[in-house]
Amino acid sequence: MLSTQPYKGTRDFYPEDKRLQKFLFNSVRNCLEKYGYEEYDAPIIEPIEMFTAKSGEEIVNEQTYLFEDRGGRQVTLRPEMTPSVSRLVAGRRQELAYPLRWYSIPNLWRYERPQRGRLREHWQINVDIFGVDSIEAESELIRIADEMLKTFGATSDQFVIKLNSRKFVDFLFLEYFKLDKKSAAKVIKLIDRMHKLEPVKFKTTLDEIIAESKMESVIADQITELMTKKNIEYLPLDVRSHSSLQSLELLMNMLNTQGVTNVIFDITLMRGFDYYTDVVFEIFDTNPENSRAIMGGGRYDGLVGLFGVEPIATAGFGLGDVTLQDFLTTHKLLPVVTTETDIYAITLGNNSSAANEMISELRSKGINVAVDITDRKLASKIKTASKKNITFVMFIGDHEIEKNKVVLRNLPNGDEASYSVDEIVKFIKNYRSQK
Ligand code: HAM
Repeated sequence: MLSTQPYKGTRDFYPEDKRLQKFLFNSVRNCLEKYGYEEYDAPIIEPIEMFTAKSGEEIVNEQTYLFEDRGGRQVTLRPEMTPSVSRLVAGRRQELAYPLRWYSIPNLWRYERPQRGRLREHWQINVDIFGVDSIEAESELIRIADEMLKTFGATSDQFVIKLNSRKFVDFLFLEYFKLDKKSAAKVIKLIDRMHKLEPVKFKTTLDEIIAESKMESVIADQITELMTKKNIEYLPLDVRSHSSLQSLELLMNMLNTQGVTNVIFDITLMRGFDYYTDVVFEIFDTNPENSRAIMGGGRYDGLVGLFGVEPIATAGFGLGDVTLQDFLTTHKLLPVVTTETDIYAITLGNNSSAANEMISELRSKGINVAVDITDRKLASKIKTASKKNITFVMFIGDHEIEKNKVVLRNLPNGDEASYSVDEIVKFIKNYRSQK
């Protein structure tokens, strides 16, 4: 027997689920288009080299849906959108008008262990700016992400925006602690997983990496100590004076003056991708029950250049639908989205062509009408409307057609009255606007 369950870690979207998704994405689209962002898209299958170049080992070796196509090419379902959008921009590098403000909402595929906040497919709102090399870009992106969450009713105390800088991280491990590149990369990966590990496990692994690199063991203690610093001010003076931290402070001030006050520095924020070059950021729910990042992004100035054109200063972020829904659920902000069908029409008499004409007129005037085309009893037709959560049932019989008025019943409260087609249009539009 075939299973009714979707493939592990993926979701079916029944109409009520799709309705909610549509509502969420429409709100997001409105927010982005207000700022002048334009929507683009790309194929769901890409050559694997797109990701081996700069996305990072973990995502390529462990998480791609990699397969050979019938022509022997190594391809994958896209695990992220950033290399694809960089390809699009590189493809028209000279013609495009910068700065570009682009967005998309792709379905992405990662072979992960399914758990709360992590599935094998998710939709990710991708927002990117190409052609701005100052922190004005990061500031706008973070402000938009903040506004998106607030559009759903979230307040600043419900989420926190964490900032760090790849330039700073490189300085810290390569110059300040003087680790070789390989060990620095290992330490960065370890810190990236830090909050999922027991502190003892973190420290012993760090000790091992430092010992392997033949550095003094005290460095592991110093790194561990530094990772506890919650504020730029608490860092040692010769670390704090690094220019990348001054940019971060400037960015935080810019955001604060724009009313985005829940921004903090987090020295442990690494971001998994190799392409980030400077500022990185993530948004977290302040409710510890929902510990996954809702959104993540940063500056990646080198990716467009990989496609054989002059590089472009770029920054962007991705915000996931699964984590967004978890966040909204945790804070009781998930809306109940009702059906788009305004009226369930039940024809009663013999004059069906006149009834159809009335229904067509309603539709042409913007009212969504589903007609019951079965020959079941009246009671079961009404029951169907109620089960579909359609508020209004319309009865059209010969008598109604003669008088050019139909009966509209509000199913939940039982109110009933006769209306002409134009009166129904007015009534329904008014009802919709009050919902
Ligand atoms: P990311 O941090 O891998 O970044 O993903 C961004 C967001 O997508 C995460 O914060 C999370 O909300 C969601 N997400 C990621 N993986 C999953 C999953 N398996 N299940 C559910 N949700 C998930 C990127 O992908 C970057 N390419 C974002 C970016 C755009 N950077 C610059 N521009």
